[in-house]
Amino acid sequence: MKVDGRHTRTIWLEPDGVTIGTIDQRLLPHRYVTVRLETLAEAAEAIRSMLVRGAPLIGATAAYGVCLALREDASDAALEAACETLAKTRPTAINLRWALGEMLAAVRNLPREARVEAAYRRATEIADEDVAINAAIGRSGLAIIEEIAARKGGAPVEILTHCNAGWLATVDWGTATAPIYMAHDKGVKLHVWVDETRPRNQGASLTAWELSHHGVPCTLIADNAGGHLMQHGQVDMVIVGTDRVTAQGDVCNKIGTYLKALAAHDNGVPFYVALPSPTIDFAVVDGVAEIPIEERGEEEVTLMAGKTADGRFETVRIAPDGVSAANYGFDVTPARLVTGLITERGVLAPSRPALAAAFPERSGRG
Ligand code: MRU
Repeated sequence: MKVDGRHTRTIWLEPDGVTIGTIDQRLLPHRYVTVRLETLAEAAEAIRSMLVRGAPLIGATAAYGVCLALREDASDAALEAACETLAKTRPTAINLRWALGEMLAAVRNLPREARVEAAYRRATEIADEDVAINAAIGRSGLAIIEEIAARKGGAPVEILTHCNAGWLATVDWGTATAPIYMAHDKGVKLHVWVDETRPRNQGASLTAWELSHHGVPCTLIADNAGGHLMQHGQVDMVIVGTDRVTAQGDVCNKIGTYLKALAAHDNGVPFYVALPSPTIDFAVVDGVAEIPIEERGEEEVTLMAGKTADGRFETVRIAPDGVSAANYGFDVTPARLVTGLITERGVLAPSRPALAAAFPERSGRG
């Protein structure tokens, strides 16, 4: 997408052909700063600290992290250690493990001297594939938005989204936002309700930033407002992204997604999940029982960071001193609450047969 009129992705190979450029998402929306990742340790820390975040972008960063590690040492031991370090950074998004599996498959059987070049080639393919997949997701989801628009006869399609599943969370386009950007660019009238997404506020700081930069009409809402809007007929559809979808179509996404799905179900609002196929984990069936949910530091709940009226950056405590907090990063929405999975191969029912039929090469049926 464009920043200051220039097309940009969220991750790129620098002109030196070695180091990796990315955006420090911790500073948005107040500052747009690009940074360079030069070592495995920097790539791992970027993922851990959420300098980069969002399942597909985490995967692409991990892939480039393997390249940076192999430049230092292309031995089997170093390759294994790099994958282990990267795998430990964040537990929930399966794209991270998928990307590491792809990198291992691409280099493991090569002689040491051929590994670095092959690694950069595969990492760049992973990034390019993500862009193509998200564009295809956009085309799949566009049809849904257009159908609702036709029914509404010119009134804006009201879409609610949670967290940031936008271009910042991927290499480009976003997953949940790809259909939104395509519909908007085609002239379909729409408006997006953006959940603030506590505790890290990815909706307020990232989704609202990228949608408004693109000219998409949007309104930020407190996380608790969605149910009220749905009860009052102000939401035509929900589209969210996901960090892991199980073989039976359960959807793990940012904490609070499940509550939106329940409210949507209660109010007859269609609840769609947009996902690239690397987000499907065919090894896991029951999402609630089996997906590891990341727990992060309590300071993300007890403290709030932001910009003051005079332009200073400040972090303030919003809870009483001494009160502890729990910080669950994700939750699981059971497949029964999902209307459809918007993928690069069309809109699928959230079910085992539908997922296996659409992705036989991933499900073990290919
Ligand atoms: O903790 P984050 O910011 O990495 O979580 C991101 C999300 O939950 C996104 O909705 C998800 O990764 C889908 S990204 C296209």
